[in-house]
Formats: sequence, structure tokens, C-alpha cells
Amino acid sequence: MAHYLASVVLYIFITIILFIIPQSSSIPFIVLHGIGDQCSNKGMKQFTELLTEWSNSTGYCIEIGDGSWDSWFMPLQEQTDIVCNKVKEMKELQQGYNFVGLSQGNLIGRGVVQFCDGAPPVKNFVSLGGPHAGIASVPLCGSGIMCILVDNLIKTEIYSDYLQEHLAPSGYLKLPNNMDGYLEKCRFLPKLNNEIPGERNSTYKERFSSLKNLVLIMFEHDTVLVPKETSWFGYYPDGAFKPVLAPQQTELYIEDWIGLKTLDDAGRVKYVKVSGNHLRISKSDMKKEVGNGAITSWDTPLEAQVEEVCRKVKEFPELQNGYNIVGQSQGNLVGRGLVEFCDDAPPVINFISLGGPHAGVASLPTCSPFLEDGVVQPKESSLFGYYPDGFYGPVLPLQKTRLYIEDWIGLKTLDKTGRLKLISVPGYHLLISTSDTIKYVVPYLTNGFGKGHNAEATHDVNVNNIEKPGDN
Ligand SMILES: *[C@@H]1O[C@H](CO)[C@@H](O)[C@H](O)[C@H]1NC(C)=O
Ligand SMILES: *[C@@H]1O[C@H](CO)[C@@H](O)[C@H](O)[C@H]1NC(C)=O
Repeated sequence: MAHYLASVVLYIFITIILFIIPQSSSIPFIVLHGIGDQCSNKGMKQFTELLTEWSNSTGYCIEIGDGSWDSWFMPLQEQTDIVCNKVKEMKELQQGYNFVGLSQGNLIGRGVVQFCDGAPPVKNFVSLGGPHAGIASVPLCGSGIMCILVDNLIKTEIYSDYLQEHLAPSGYLKLPNNMDGYLEKCRFLPKLNNEIPGERNSTYKERFSSLKNLVLIMFEHDTVLVPKETSWFGYYPDGAFKPVLAPQQTELYIEDWIGLKTLDDAGRVKYVKVSGNHLRISKSDMKKEVGNGAITSWDTPLEAQVEEVCRKVKEFPELQNGYNIVGQSQGNLVGRGLVEFCDDAPPVINFISLGGPHAGVASLPTCSPFLEDGVVQPKESSLFGYYPDGFYGPVLPLQKTRLYIEDWIGLKTLDKTGRLKLISVPGYHLLISTSDTIKYVVPYLTNGFGKGHNAEATHDVNVNNIEKPGDN
């Protein structure tokens, strides 16, 4: 999420870093990026370079694992351990260094300050949009599929061992209505914030409160961090989603669990508020910086996406004798656009649609964990079922829709010739098991079911009898 860096953020830095750092301009700084980002991305490179130039000190973007992927899926404790080892090994940092964190990177940075034994000292800690007090919703709208998938799991599963081990943001999702679950099972933030009664470690407090300056930057229109005040250590009270408490009203501060109050009393905390959304400035800047699929998939009209893919498939020599499409969610509409609209394109042989909103969606895919809605609403849309015109229910099965009955796009034609397979699998949106994938997707991609072959799948089902493969 840190791609969206532009002049305004950097301007903040001129004003903030430069007035803090002069006395220590010879010490280097490290940057830790946010979720879904990586040091090799253009935005991160520019960011580190510009800060280097303006502060006249050397900056290093420290990568964790392979970057973007691991930022999502490696538990934060492991990410912290990796950075801990790296900062101990970097000779350049041994006299101390400053830290610049973007979003999730701030928690890893604090992990290094508080947990990393024998590490060189961090002097100034500059936090941009850090979820310091937790978040009540997954920070992921930049990342379509995961956004959606995680969002569905969040309410029930976020404190499960599985997600705690496999999804980084689960380490700081703090649902005020499930504080017991959070304190007991959430593996990172409760420890980082010394929140667990009886397990508070004074070493963490001692280390954190030895920072020279703690600069907490909040984005006034942050819609990624819920609540945005978490970037100042503000949060909801236990048990409720309102009101947001100011940092000074939280127990963490009042009882000084990690030394925030100590730092504040000594005048070493700067609370900064800037306009703009989470680490980002304007959509046009964002697009300039990004060229990145996740954003484009949200804000580019589907027709333009189809045109782009249409152009691309015509250029691929490998596809010219025909190819298969596997679509995920919205990608299916782009894929169908390709089949239906793209002139002179190579032929599509098999089309495998996973959770496609073929008949439309009645609500926007969302990242809010508090909505009951699934992602594709109604889910039958994946099988071309939909609400009748004028109503939100009941969902009409495919063969009762006019699209099918009047055969507007040839779906009935396909069905009557045995070429339509309707399959229902258990699980949330796009959360298909490996065995189901092997059973339902792979056969159509292998030679046996190639061109002109009328796929003789055992799971071939008719519209009145939708198979539930998970039952076996
Ligand atoms: C930047 O640092 C170098 C080396 O420490 C120093 O010689 C130079 O004068 C500094 N430049 C500015 C603009 O502070
Ligand atoms: C507190 O943390 C420090 C640093 O990681 C560790 O050495 C120490 O054993 C911890 N103390 C307790 C009581 O767990």
C-alpha cells in the first residue's frame, strides 16, 4: 500500500525529518514498507532515494523475504526476526540509526526496537500511517482477491491458529467485541503493546521509551486503517466500536505499558496529522506511481480492461491456435468480454469461471468485516442466477432467467449441447481447495480435454442438481 507516495508525503518529510535529524545527520536510516509493497517497487525506491537526498543521510529499504508476498503471509514475529538479524549484521547501522515505517512496517519496526536483543539503537522513529493500536478491519483494498477472501474469514477465524500463522495482518487485528480472543490468541500486537496482564515485559518499555523522537503521522482521510487514530495509538474502548479514544485516554497510555506516556511527558512524541488517505495523495498520482494490477483492477472501467487484454492475447504467438481461460471473480467478466467483444482474437476453447459475478452483483465487494454480505451477492450469480427485476429475492436459478430463456448470449445453447458445467464448491469466495481445483479446473486445461473435445467430466452436473463436491 505504500506505492502511493507522492509529493505531499515527501514534503512532510522535508519538514519533519529535516528538523529532527540535523543533530544526527550522519546516521543512516532504514525504511520498512507496508503490506503488499516491496523495496524494488519504483515508489519505494524513489521514496528512499528522495529521503536520502533531503536528509543528507543514507537510507536503506530493508526487504523481508520476497517482499510483497511475505508481507502478507509471513507472521509479523518472523518478519521482525528477519529485520532484527539484518540490522545487527549491517555495519552501517552499528552507531545507531533512524527508522521510517510505512503502515504495517511500523509494527515490525517497533518489534525490532522492543524485541531485538543486541541490536543497534534506533534514535528517531518516524511512523507514517502505522496501525499501532491495532485495526478493526483488514487493511487490504489494494489487493482485490485477498481483500475479499480475508474479509469473509475475519469475523470467525481471525484468531485461529491457522490465520495467525499464515496471515500477517491477523497479528494486529483487534476486534473490540472479541477482546478475549484477541488477548489470548492474537500473536503479535498484544505482546508488542504489553497488553497481556501478567505478561508485561519491562524491557520492551525500557527500549521503546529510549527513543529520541517518536513521530506519529496520521492521514486525516485514512480509510485503510480503521480507526485512523490508531496511527497515534488512539483506539476503540474494549467491547465497543465507538467512540475512538484519544491516545491519552487509552489504558496503554495511562498505565504506560510500553513507555508512550514517558516519551510524551518528555516531549519526545510528535503527533502529526496530514490530509489525504492512507499513504496516498490523489488518484492520479496513485495511478502514475502504480501501473499496478491491484489498483487498476478497481478503478479502470471493465471495457478498458477488456480492450487491454484483447490487445495482449492477439500479440501472444503461443495463444494463436486457441487457449483456455481461467477467470477469478471479476476477471471472468473481463474474460467473457474477451470472448464476446474481441475481434480477430484467437479462439477460447474452455472457459473456467471461479466465482464470477456473471449475472451482476447487488452490492459492492467490500472490505468491511461488519457486513453480513458475501462477496458476490447473490452467490448464484456465479452460475448466472440472479434476483428477478425489481426485487432482492428470491434468487432465480439460471434457467428461470430471461437471459437463459431467451438465450441472449447463447448460454442455453451451450447448456443444451452439454457444454455448460455448473459446479458448486464449499468455501468462501475463491477459497477453493486444491483437490477441488484438481478435480474441476485442471482437467479442462490438459490435453485430453483440448480443442473440440466434449469434456466428459464425471462432475458434469445439470442445473437442477448442482453438485456439492465438498461432501466427499
Ligand atoms: C552532507 O553530508 C556531507 C558528509 O557528511 C557533508 O560534507 C555535506 O556538507 C552535507 N551537505 C549538506 C547539504 O548538509
Ligand atoms: C523480556 O524481554 C527480554 C528481551 O526480549 C527478555 O530477555 C526477557 O527474558 C523477558 N522477560 C520476561 C520476564 O519474559
